[in-house]
Amino acid sequence: MKLPKLHIGDLTANIPIIQGGMGIGVSLSGLAGAVAREGGIGVISAAQVGFNEPDFRTNTVKANIRALKEQIHKAREKAKNGIIGINIMWRGQHYEDYARTAAESGADIIFSGAGLPADLPVCVEGTNTKIAPIIGSPKAARVILKLWAKHHNRTADLVVIEGPKAGGHLGYTREQVKMHESDGYEKEIMEILGVVKEFEEKFNKKIPVVFGGGIFDKKDIEHYLSLGLSGVQMATRFVATKECDAAEAFKNMYVKAKPSDVTIVQSPVHMPGRALLNPFVRAVRQGRIPVTNCFHCLKTCDPSTTPYCITQALIRAVRGDVDHGLVFCGANAWKINQITTVHDLFTELVEGTAKA
Ligand SMILES: Cc1cc2nc3c(=O)[nH]c(=O)nc-3n(C[C@H](O)[C@H](O)[C@H](O)COP(=O)(O)O)c2cc1C
Repeated sequence: MKLPKLHIGDLTANIPIIQGGMGIGVSLSGLAGAVAREGGIGVISAAQVGFNEPDFRTNTVKANIRALKEQIHKAREKAKNGIIGINIMWRGQHYEDYARTAAESGADIIFSGAGLPADLPVCVEGTNTKIAPIIGSPKAARVILKLWAKHHNRTADLVVIEGPKAGGHLGYTREQVKMHESDGYEKEIMEILGVVKEFEEKFNKKIPVVFGGGIFDKKDIEHYLSLGLSGVQMATRFVATKECDAAEAFKNMYVKAKPSDVTIVQSPVHMPGRALLNPFVRAVRQGRIPVTNCFHCLKTCDPSTTPYCITQALIRAVRGDVDHGLVFCGANAWKINQITTVHDLFTELVEGTAKA
């Protein structure tokens, strides 16, 4: 099957694959630019994007805003006519500042999950930036689309369904993750498609819906397209590419991982997270790791009780200190056995020449 194009209003991705945003620092302009150049949608994670700036500790918000503008600019240089998105977690502090910066800097689309980004439409006003909520249930889809309709008289340009096999923070309880381990989350996908259809009719506008979480090869992509989805979001497979912005040690953790290394951890975000088992995860299970320097990154974190500092744990990992950091991954990370290039990965996914 020839993969169809993904149309999002006046934007067209030649390949219906969105590279999921990966924070902190795993998907920056290197990866996003390479994906956009291949015809997919490349996504920069805005989570603590300024972590390499010299004033990150003392001037965190300014450092992040400066870095976000720079990353968008660099990704554009790599993929002149490509589609560049920004992923901004709603639970992060200064959400509106980052969303406005992304829109004013020319991001094509903002993806936002980990909560209900009620005011995202206001942040993109006066720009051509599209908005896409990331949701995990029919209820969440209805709530956010209703909110946007009621308060802003507008709807989503795209909806991303993130299933329980995704990487990073999961919008599910541990029990739900276990329950859906053996299915493709299809009943919920069909219900979400039904909810979105109501808003398509209300606004007389096509709202493409994509699914992400555990998608590994072309067969998986074709399966989800056959359910009525317009495309897919994939992240884990993009980690094991030369262009991914994480350190080699981070990527090699994926290559070496066995099924039993993929685990669920408690996160200060108050959501379960999927990550690779390492000395850091074992230490967290033994007890709290006190916070020595708070970055005020989350709306919901109390540094005096949080199990560990998520910013510090993710920065350590992305820089390659994989024993003392948190290495997020999707449920199928163990299937990866080599590091490839974004170009070769696209060829494999488009042509279906999968190497198991
Ligand atoms: C290393 C890593 C970091 C991630 N960070 C974020 C993030 O910051 N924000 C977010 O919305 N999703 C994040 N995700 C989820 C991905 O964007 C994506 O939706 C999901 O992982 C898709 O499933 P897959 O990894 O099985 O392909 C992350 C995933 C991984 C693997």
